[in-house]
Amino acid sequence: MSYIEIEYPAEKPAFYDLLNKQLLEYCGGEPDKTAVLANASAVIKAAFSGANWAGFYLADGEALKLGPFQGRPAVSRIPKGKGVCGTAWQRGESVVVEDVGCFEGHIACDCSSRSEIVIPIFKSDGGFFGVLDMDSTETAYFSDEDRAGLEDAAKTVAGLLEI
Ligand code: SME
Repeated sequence: MSYIEIEYPAEKPAFYDLLNKQLLEYCGGEPDKTAVLANASAVIKAAFSGANWAGFYLADGEALKLGPFQGRPAVSRIPKGKGVCGTAWQRGESVVVEDVGCFEGHIACDCSSRSEIVIPIFKSDGGFFGVLDMDSTETAYFSDEDRAGLEDAAKTVAGLLEI
């Protein structure tokens, strides 16, 4: 399997349609969860020219534990309710941060990050599995359309993980 660089369409519906297809193509048919998440982080990061970090944090007791990602080294554990990731877990919903400097409690991993989006990933029984976290060096990089599109992508990843 070799990754073929593709140009993503600018229009968001077509963009997210292609992103979901890429996730199925590069992560499908793999029973190992780490392998699925590793390739999913690579596929997602490659799709966003403005993203400097894309990866997963997985629920482990009362904290999120760093999972597969693409980007600079990051904090390995985030307690529930802390940072943007722990807040998304506590609220049970996506959190879009236009300016990380204005989010109280934001945990800085890469000081060039300016905006962030965190999408919860749920199991088929409704239980919480973890989050998809993305950072950008641009302020307000992630729109509401991105939130909706990435929530779909997170469902695709959950399906690939068979959770
Ligand atoms: N900024 C996150 C921490 C993880 S890094 O962005 C990769 C947070 O506040 O939860």
